[in-house]
Amino acid sequence: MDPQSETHSIQSLRAAIPREKVAEYPTPLIRADRLALELKAERFFFKRDDLISFGLGGNKTRGLEVILSDALRRKADTLVTGAGVLSNHVRTAAAFASAYGMDCEAVYWGSAPSSAIGNYAIVQMLGAKLNFTDELDRTSVDRHIDYVVQRLRDKGRKSYAIPRGGACGHGVLGHVLAVCELFQQCNELGIEPDRIVLGAGSGGTYAGWLLGIRLLDLPWLVEGFSVSRPREDMENQVLALISEAEAILGVKAQFRREDLQIRDGFIGEGYGIPSIEGNEAIQLVCKTEGVLLDPVYTGKAMAGFKSEIQTGKLSRSGTTVFIHTGGEPNYYSLSN
Ligand SMILES: Cc1ncc(COP(=O)(O)O)c(C=O)c1O
Repeated sequence: MDPQSETHSIQSLRAAIPREKVAEYPTPLIRADRLALELKAERFFFKRDDLISFGLGGNKTRGLEVILSDALRRKADTLVTGAGVLSNHVRTAAAFASAYGMDCEAVYWGSAPSSAIGNYAIVQMLGAKLNFTDELDRTSVDRHIDYVVQRLRDKGRKSYAIPRGGACGHGVLGHVLAVCELFQQCNELGIEPDRIVLGAGSGGTYAGWLLGIRLLDLPWLVEGFSVSRPREDMENQVLALISEAEAILGVKAQFRREDLQIRDGFIGEGYGIPSIEGNEAIQLVCKTEGVLLDPVYTGKAMAGFKSEIQTGKLSRSGTTVFIHTGGEPNYYSLSN
């Protein structure tokens, strides 16, 4: 791409980002008036990425479509990736491996749980090989992925390592394509968003939305609610991921820390542990719109958004698009 050009078109971005499209797009953009009334927010929409028509849906498909294109270019026969046992990313990566006739090695921190629930059960149905690091430290997954790649290399296999949670430059570019999609959809429907709201775990989704919006020169703000790590850590991660994605695209959008809007007050007791506020937000959205959020990502992001507009830290006015990034397969294993 032209590194000098400050703005890019949807067409130029789509041409520059190859992907293995496994789902039907665009995902629905639905107006949520009853929820808006409850929240006293002016206009509210859900972008239903939970309904992505592959591997039980969710935002991870978008990143993996671009990652897979790179893996196929490199003639990989095995996807090696990891996270925690309830990971949506690992479930989706395993579905990609199955759909493309590849093997998948799933690397999880800790030791094997006694029962197979939620995504962990689905990953097994998808035929992924399971590896446990036997360490509770999440970064143990990163070291173990390297170990599995080496083991496969010794056997003459060509594996492709996808960083924990799919957080890498190619993954980020999948979300840049989501911005192109929403922009086109909004143009067709006559909607002008003021802000995008989403939950941030590894930071890849947030990074992609921010980068895409900047490259298309849109006036949309991106409000991210961290569900996993303190704000500063998340900002560092997002800035690093944006740089990685920029290097692949051959552009430089000059982001500064001040360009990021990330909040970390709604994580609760920790990543993957449902919070009271998150569960209340899930119930509110269920009762007003019949839409199910999840307790790890979207429920906490909604709790954060609700609190911030109620306390006046975010404005009630304007048009909000909440990215429903999915995660429902874990719902029954985490709720009580
Ligand atoms: C359902 C869901 N929503 C949001 C996220 C956060 O995305 P990211 O890790 O790109 O920040 C994830 C990540 O696993 C997810 O599974």
